[in-house]
Amino acid sequence: MKNIVLYKSKCGNSLQYATWIASELNWELRELSKFKKSEIKNYQNIIFGSGVYMGKMSQIKKILAWFSQKSIIIFACAGNNNIEKDIEVIKKNNFSEEQLSLHKFFYLPGGVDFSKVKGLLKMMLSVFQKVMQKKQNKTEDEIAILEGFTNPTNYVDRLHINDLVSYAKSL
Ligand SMILES: Cc1cc2nc3c(=O)[nH]c(=O)nc-3n(C[C@H](O)[C@H](O)[C@H](O)COP(=O)(O)O)c2cc1C
Repeated sequence: MKNIVLYKSKCGNSLQYATWIASELNWELRELSKFKKSEIKNYQNIIFGSGVYMGKMSQIKKILAWFSQKSIIIFACAGNNNIEKDIEVIKKNNFSEEQLSLHKFFYLPGGVDFSKVKGLLKMMLSVFQKVMQKKQNKTEDEIAILEGFTNPTNYVDRLHINDLVSYAKSL
């Protein structure tokens, strides 16, 4: 039986982690859109990872529907650098307790770089930035988001995959 790493990445961070993980484990690597549900039966172990946008992991609904019975490894890649309370919010926003006990979840730090965003989202962000800049009495979160437009962060590091890789090797 084969093993595979699937990913959905808009800014390249989950892609980078998925590439490192697949190479470390010597597993196949594929973008989720190029993988069909009917192929699941050909794989023994599956890892899925994606970025978090407005609180939600990309493609997570589809993944949780496909793997409602089969346990897989899931990693979320978001803006925070391993901040426990923010990771808890991501878990709550994306999974039920039942789903968290079925699947093995990992968090891999990404960072925020609005300049990497493309297409419609880029246009929406540009409008959002202008509205925010004009807003009076900004909250702390709003100030932090605005800062992100001028000061991108990047916490992507190969070392972060170690726990996930050790777990996958133990399967
Ligand atoms: C428009 C936008 C919205 C984002 N929303 C969130 C969010 O709600 N929570 C969070 O922790 N990170 C958020 N981020 C940060 C991304 O999750 C982070 O950049 C992640 O590494 C992207 O993964 P990807 O490059 O694989 O798509 C956001 C980034 C952008 C550009």
